[in-house]
Amino acid sequence: MERFSKNLPIERMHAAREGGKTVGGAGAFPFELTVPGGVVPTAGVTVVGTFPTHRRRGVLRSLMRAQLDDVHERGEPLALLWASEDTIYGRFGYGMASRTGSVSIPKEHSAYAQPNERRAALRIVDAGEALTLFPRVWNRVRLKTPGMIARTRNWWEYRVLFEPPAGGGEGGPKRFVVLESEGRPEGYAIYRHKPKWDEGESDAELEVVEAIALDGRPTAEIWRYLLDIDWSARTTAGLLPSDHPLWWLLATPRRMRLKIGDGLWVRLVDVGAALSARTYATDGAIVFDVLDEFCPWNEGRWRLADGRAKRTTAAAQLRCDVTMLGSVYLGGFTFSQLVRGGRVEELRRGAAVRADAIFATDRAPWCPEIF
Ligand SMILES: CC(C)(COP(=O)(O)OP(=O)(O)OC[C@H]1O[C@@H](n2cnc3c(N)ncnc32)[C@H](O)[C@@H]1OP(=O)(O)O)[C@@H](O)C(=O)NCCC(=O)NCCS
Repeated sequence: MERFSKNLPIERMHAAREGGKTVGGAGAFPFELTVPGGVVPTAGVTVVGTFPTHRRRGVLRSLMRAQLDDVHERGEPLALLWASEDTIYGRFGYGMASRTGSVSIPKEHSAYAQPNERRAALRIVDAGEALTLFPRVWNRVRLKTPGMIARTRNWWEYRVLFEPPAGGGEGGPKRFVVLESEGRPEGYAIYRHKPKWDEGESDAELEVVEAIALDGRPTAEIWRYLLDIDWSARTTAGLLPSDHPLWWLLATPRRMRLKIGDGLWVRLVDVGAALSARTYATDGAIVFDVLDEFCPWNEGRWRLADGRAKRTTAAAQLRCDVTMLGSVYLGGFTFSQLVRGGRVEELRRGAAVRADAIFATDRAPWCPEIF
């Protein structure tokens, strides 16, 4: 509670009450989220739950109502969450917006496709030094990666770098390593070594908690370090983006055993403001007919042109539920994919391909942490 409340302002917490007792709750972190071409104030929905004694009576529905109305009034155009179950949030207008993967790379299949000669220096640091160095890397990477959030000092201290008291954590302690070139941090990693021996051979796991580095060489170097640590039979990592550079770094990417699932879920709380808050790859115009039962203020036709979305009476070219705008918003999915899946209706031929060209981004969205 104490740690959590360092980052979640009490006024962003809703409680469901019955007879003076709390029976459910939902919170929202006030995030600054990277979207294509910029950052947007976003509600990071968290700690959603109904007491087991009060389930399936509409408690969650009333919490979602209160929370989305509050987010709307605050002027945050987006809400963002990780779903514990993929069936829960679609009815409230959230669309699956990114894919995330986990890998388990056996040591014997960790070679790179091309020689990698380390140029930067690596240094193991303590949490105190990590607190000054890691945010410098994070900020450079997150500003060009849709799906990443700005981290406050409290977020670093009480979540990312935090270690439970001895015996409380899983596996070994968190280790912190920084990659520096000419004295400047270009990458870092947080990892745990979980030792295990089997008949004199190491069967240990090197768990990568978070590895963040600038594009290109720094990413290759930090991963080479993680893959080469002794006394480990495999290197594991979760919450990687679906287009992680390991695909191109590893000589045998098939052997990393990538498992992909749904990642972030995005809700456009204010369709006009949200669509106007990101940038677009091309100038073209497109008219959407949006359906939104839970937040009817978004319903109707919107024309997106020159990066601004405005209400229009022009004929619609694409018709979809607001969830589908959440799916394409960060660049994780395309309109063409959603047309193929029967979730977006193409009212004018070729509209999906045109919309895809407008919404195109240079990388898959990535949020390396569950909040
Ligand atoms: C998920 C949870 C919050 C639902 O709360 P609840 O108060 O029972 O939900 P409601 O009664 O308001 O249900 C709202 C709707 O969601 C549906 N629903 C609720 N939980 C669901 C679930 N786990 N799977 C599928 N549908 C679900 C209900 O059927 C209902 O549908 P309808 O509006 O079409 O009739 C509750 O089961 C819970 O606390 N689970 C454990 C914690 C958790 O998973 N929290 C989510 C963290 S992301």
